[in-house]
Amino acid sequence: MFPAVSAAVATVIAIERLRWISFGHVESDECGSMNAWLAAAPGAQVVHGMTACMVSLNDLADRPPRPLADGEVLDLGDRRVRWIDTPHVPHAWESGVMFEEVTASLLCGDLFTQLGDGLPAIGSADIVPASIVAEEAFHATSLTATTAATVRSLKALAPRRLAVMHGACFEGDCADALERLADYYDGAHRQAMRAA
Ligand SMILES: [Fe+2]
Ligand SMILES: [Fe+2]
Repeated sequence: MFPAVSAAVATVIAIERLRWISFGHVESDECGSMNAWLAAAPGAQVVHGMTACMVSLNDLADRPPRPLADGEVLDLGDRRVRWIDTPHVPHAWESGVMFEEVTASLLCGDLFTQLGDGLPAIGSADIVPASIVAEEAFHATSLTATTAATVRSLKALAPRRLAVMHGACFEGDCADALERLADYYDGAHRQAMRAA
């Protein structure tokens, strides 16, 4: 995907000017081209949570990554990006999300994944029902006793936008969307425990 994605990024910013490279967790669709980006952008550095850096990225990345503690802010000048650890949510120990404070945008990674072409790219239509359909199709989320609480805790950031990796992005009452997604995981966890 690197040729296609880098060509798209180049319409926004010259690739060699990129400074930071980040992603939700260590998986091929998230960071399979990490080292291709590092090669194309000599001044760029991978930035991620402590867990990913210690467990994987210190070894996998061609240049040392910059680790961020849970809640630490990376000041980009006109934007401020806060790293939030969300272990095992939606999956993978090292998972986290980023919150851009100036635009109140939650970079969701795989949270709110939906099937289809992800259109419109951003809209105000409810994305929760489609997210539940995708979850029931793939069971991609690590369903644990703390899944719902972790999703619910993101409401405290008061996001105004949900930037979704797989599917349409959402602008509107994000706290309500997070609450309803958490409710779904609460129910799914209860059901799984009863079945066990
Ligand atoms: Fe993933
Ligand atoms: Fe993904």
